[in-house]
Amino acid sequence: MKTLFFNIKELVQIRDSSIMKVQGQEMKILPTIKNAFLVVENERITDFGSMSNLQDFNADQVIDSRGHTILPAWCDSHTHIVYAGNRESEFVDRIKGLSYEEIAARGGGILNSAKKLEESSEQELFEQASQRIREVMRLGTGAIEIKSGYGLSLESEIKMLNVIKMLKDTYAINIKATFLGAHAFPSQYRNNKEAYVDLICEKMIPEVAKQNLADFIDVFCEIGYFDIHQTEKILKAGKVHELIPKIHVNQFNSIGGIDVGVKCEALSVDHLEVMKKEDFEILKDSDVMPVALPSCSYFLSIPYTPARKMIDQGLPLALATDFNPGSTPSGNMNFVVSTACIKMKMTPEEAINAATINGAYAMGLSDSCGSITRGKDANLIVYKDIPSLNFIPYAFGSNLIDKVMIKGSFI
Ligand code: NIG
Ligand code: FE
Repeated sequence: MKTLFFNIKELVQIRDSSIMKVQGQEMKILPTIKNAFLVVENERITDFGSMSNLQDFNADQVIDSRGHTILPAWCDSHTHIVYAGNRESEFVDRIKGLSYEEIAARGGGILNSAKKLEESSEQELFEQASQRIREVMRLGTGAIEIKSGYGLSLESEIKMLNVIKMLKDTYAINIKATFLGAHAFPSQYRNNKEAYVDLICEKMIPEVAKQNLADFIDVFCEIGYFDIHQTEKILKAGKVHELIPKIHVNQFNSIGGIDVGVKCEALSVDHLEVMKKEDFEILKDSDVMPVALPSCSYFLSIPYTPARKMIDQGLPLALATDFNPGSTPSGNMNFVVSTACIKMKMTPEEAINAATINGAYAMGLSDSCGSITRGKDANLIVYKDIPSLNFIPYAFGSNLIDKVMIKGSFI
C-alpha cells in the first residue's frame, strides 16, 4: 500500500536519520518544508520533499493535502495509563486545601489506586486502559511509555505488565513498558521498608525480566517514598537484568536523585519541578534526557520544571503527559505542548521538538519515531487548516487535528 500526500501546506520536523535528540540552542530549530509531498509505503515513511521535486504521482492512495500541516505524531515518554477507577474525590480534597502529600499520608494517593487495582481483573484493566489508549491516539500520540506501579506486589505488578503486553498486542501504537514496583511502600512494609526493597530486587525484577515484560525500570525517588540509596540499589538490580533505568525525581524535593540517575546511566530523569543549582550541572555532559510533565504541575498546582533555564544552559528537554489517576488525569499531548509554551516559556519550536524527537529518545525509539525521516514509522498528525505552527500551542483549547495516521493507517 502506497500513499502520497501532495500539496501539503507545511511538513514539519523533517530530519536526517542521524539525529537522536536536540538540546540547548538546537531546540529552537524545527525544520519544515512548505508546499511539500510525503510518501508512505505500508508502515513507513519512504520519501518526502518539496512539491517542485515530486515526479512520481503513482500511488494506491493520493491525498490532496492543500491547507493541511503535517507533523510527526507525539511521543509520550511517561504515562501510567493502566489503572483501575479514578481518584476524583482526592481532587476535591485538594480543592478544599489538602496537598498531594497530605492525601498520600492519609492512605490515599498511590495506595488508593493499588487497592482498586488489586480488586480488578486483567480484562477489566485492559478495557479501561484501551479506552485511554484510543483516546490518546485520536489526540495525536503515536508512541507511548506505560508504567506498572499500582500493583506493589509480585502478583499485581505482573498483572499490570501483562495488561501492557495485551495493549501492545492489540494496538498499532508503539508501546514501551516500564516496571515501577518502587512507586510507593505498601502499608504492610511501612515499618520495614528494606524488606520491600529486597522483594523488588530479589523477586520482582528477576521475574519481570524472566517473563520479558518490561523495557525499563523506574523508581519514585522522593521524601516519604524511595531514598537515594534505595533508588540506586533498585536501578542497579534492574540493570543486571537489562532493564534500562528511568526515574521519577525532584517532583517535590531535590534529594540527590538526579545524581543517582546520571550515575546509573538512566535514559531519562522525569518531573524536575524542584531543581537545585547542582542538579543542572550534573545533567550537563550526560546522555540523560530530562523530561518535564507540565500537566502534572498544572493539575497539582506545583511549580513547573524550569525549562527555560535548562534549555538556555544547553540541556535537552522532553515533554510527556504523566497520564495517571492522581496527579494528571489527562493524556493530552496538545495540552502539554501548549502549557509548556504558556507556563514554561518554551517557544512552539522547542515544545514541538521536546514532544517529538526528544520524547522518542526518552523511550529508546529514536530509530522509528519522532520525526519525518525516511524509514521511520508513518505516525502522522494531519492538522486542519491552521494559519501557522504557532497556532498549535496558541489555540490551547481547540481540537486542531483533522486525522491521525499510525504505522501507515488512519485511525
Ligand atoms: O508521576 N509521582 C509519582 N507518581 C505519579 C503519580 C501517581 C499517583 O498519584 O497515582 C506521578 O505524578
Ligand atoms: Fe509519573
